[in-house]
Amino acid sequence: MAEIIVRKSGGLKGTVFTSGSKNAVLPLLAATLLTEQKCEIDSVPNLKDVKVMCELLESFGANVTEKLDENVILVEANTLKTSVAPIGPVRSMRASIVSMGPVLARTGTARIPLPGGCAIGDRPIDLHIKGFIALGADVDMIEDESGNGYVEARAEKLVGAEMYLDTPSVGATENIMMAASLAEGTTIIENPAQEPEIVDLANYLNKMGAKIKGAGTDMIKIEGVPELHGATHSVIPDRIEAGTYMLAAAITKGNILVENMLSNHVVPIIAKLRECGVVITEEDDGLRVSAENANLKSADLKTLPYPGFPTDIQPQFMAFLSIVSGSSTILETVFENRFMHINELNKMNAGIIEDGRRAIVKGGVQLKGAEVRATDLRAGAALILAGLVAEGETVISDIYHIDRGYDDIIGKLKRLGADIERID
Ligand code: UD1
Repeated sequence: MAEIIVRKSGGLKGTVFTSGSKNAVLPLLAATLLTEQKCEIDSVPNLKDVKVMCELLESFGANVTEKLDENVILVEANTLKTSVAPIGPVRSMRASIVSMGPVLARTGTARIPLPGGCAIGDRPIDLHIKGFIALGADVDMIEDESGNGYVEARAEKLVGAEMYLDTPSVGATENIMMAASLAEGTTIIENPAQEPEIVDLANYLNKMGAKIKGAGTDMIKIEGVPELHGATHSVIPDRIEAGTYMLAAAITKGNILVENMLSNHVVPIIAKLRECGVVITEEDDGLRVSAENANLKSADLKTLPYPGFPTDIQPQFMAFLSIVSGSSTILETVFENRFMHINELNKMNAGIIEDGRRAIVKGGVQLKGAEVRATDLRAGAALILAGLVAEGETVISDIYHIDRGYDDIIGKLKRLGADIERID
């Protein structure tokens, strides 16, 4: 089993380039199923999840050319040979569910296994299903002969509708936007997710000929069109990856220039780091994050849907708060079970108490190397950050989670001076 070994590294210094966004590229790739024409996606990060999505597109019959060393993927979904997704990719990656809207819109039916992915809470798909039903689809939960559960949607034609999302779900907003792009008439989504990845998807769909307005606000309007065409698009930078390197500078008291990032996508991360005493300055090529001579102190935080503090940075921020002076409270409001890293950080002497959706971080401790498990993708990143400042050696197992979502994290950290290696 592959492991990552991290040792105490001193202040990280240098420049790190932010890759394309994992959470943006996955729905963009799914969107290529909406047209029979050739599509090109650029600035694609080299990630396991991207490969899984390509496998999924191929299983539907798309022709996929992966040029990941050039960060390019070409997709031509001339005809879809099936509307049934295989179990493998869907179980290993929850984001596979965003293929459902495009396949339903394109073929009139879609059958997708109940999804897997990071075990952070129940992660239901009821809002996706409500959206498809509102657009006129019949949706059933079915079981195959081997007892595998599927969700199946069928619609002779999709018809635009007005709907309200009880929770601003990212995946549901994406699925509905894609399906509604080819529906007859106008769809209005009230209380949609407003994440930058939603805006990126809407921009791409509009390049393909869709008519979407309001992405990034609290109401999205989609006027359906009869067909979409091929288009080329460059993925936005990964704000969560950028945030992780900002925290690497903060926790190690280093000085890192995070290049190719959009600072307006990380406003709450900047604000919280500044509250803790980290110095952040905008430069021509990116954001400089320095904690070199900082007197780091605690801050409370609460995760929220965008533009609030991102849940995907909560574990990494928790690792950081465990070493600053003073105690902090973290409230996780997006997922009901996203504290599995507390156990692991405590094995490293972190002193964090879990109280329902609240975590109380004692702060001011000297972390110690230990054998720990990456319980999910961002938890894995948090353990790497903790390992950079822990006495001794930290050995992280289950690193397949980290491979899913960080492009060359070992190489990037090494170039910043980290003592880190991967053992396969
Ligand atoms: C996406 C991101 C993930 C991030 C999350 C929240 C991708 C590939 N993944 O996940 O990294 O942590 O947004 O920012 O983009 N919910 C329901 N019913 C549904 C769908 C969701 O109740 O049908 C709930 C979930 O249980 C959760 C909340 O809504 O509590 C947010 O989930 P959602 O925004 O859907 O997250 P994902 O799209 O799965």
